[in-house]
Amino acid sequence: MPALASRLIAWQRRQGRHHLPWQNTRDAYRIWLSEIMLQQTQVTTVIAYYERFVQSFPTVQSLAAAPLARVLEHWSGLGYYRRAHHLHAAAQTVVNEHNGVFPDTQERLMILPGVGRSTAAAIAVFAFGQRAAILDGNVRRLLARHQGIEGFPGLPDVEKTLWALAEQLLPKRHLEAYTQGLMDLGSQICTRSKPLCAQCPLRDDCVAYHQNRVHELPTPRSGKAPVRRDFCLLMLRRNGRVLLEARANRGIWSGLWSFPECDVGDNFAALIRARWGLTLIAKKAQPVMVHPLTHRTLHITPILATVRGRLSSTTALETRFFSLSEARQCALPAPVRRLLAQ
Ligand code: ADE
Repeated sequence: MPALASRLIAWQRRQGRHHLPWQNTRDAYRIWLSEIMLQQTQVTTVIAYYERFVQSFPTVQSLAAAPLARVLEHWSGLGYYRRAHHLHAAAQTVVNEHNGVFPDTQERLMILPGVGRSTAAAIAVFAFGQRAAILDGNVRRLLARHQGIEGFPGLPDVEKTLWALAEQLLPKRHLEAYTQGLMDLGSQICTRSKPLCAQCPLRDDCVAYHQNRVHELPTPRSGKAPVRRDFCLLMLRRNGRVLLEARANRGIWSGLWSFPECDVGDNFAALIRARWGLTLIAKKAQPVMVHPLTHRTLHITPILATVRGRLSSTTALETRFFSLSEARQCALPAPVRRLLAQ
């Protein structure tokens, strides 16, 4: 079994979700209903809707026979109402054209309105124990990062590559745990913002993680990858206090207090003397922090430095030494706040 699959399955068994109301059943109706609800809505929201829905419409026959208005009432608040229209139409297809029995392969499930390739795969796996690959938004993100796939996943070529990978990576056995593992990891660990890489079972061979590009992948829609900007933040310490400057009222972090910025290649000792009249005693570069913005990705090298001397700023910016507790009260950009906490 490929390493990715075995790690994912082991993780799903230990840490994944096992008691969702649409799990532990082979009822294709219930599984189909849950997958449609989960297409654009998070698990925590879906649960209550799902419970009410199956109470009112316990079988595909009862759903097919219900007036559309009643179905929509039950959908009210879930959003993307086209799903409810498709749901009702699909129930009627199953009842009228398939004797009330759901198709049992990915390919034939795709005949139903509202059931695309990925949803059909999920139903085929969970209801019929088949071997089929899912590729919903969460899995696209996870694969783009793990395999280091560039390009917006909505582009036909990129999508094709991702589908091919999703198929290649499928294990021969334990498809349910594998598929649920992809869903659970994608929604709980490999999240769009602030992914929890430290807890990820796939970190060892994740391309994005090793290249420090987790925040750049998948490539956003604009087609333009964010521009990378490399710079240093100088964390100047003098007798337990840190130097902050109020940033100019333009550019990023305008008007916030920050550690002063300089270029990666600067001569720190000369710069610190020229800008603030201070003497550098010791310095140590910290690990690079990657901070994604909409159009730029900041690669920040923090320089932890000890200085001495009297502060005589030659810059136009207000500059002061703060105690750590004073600094924490200031309006700080998120990465600066994180550095202070460290
Ligand atoms: N997202 C889509 N299908 C899901 C499922 N069956 N469980 C959890 N999250 C999902």
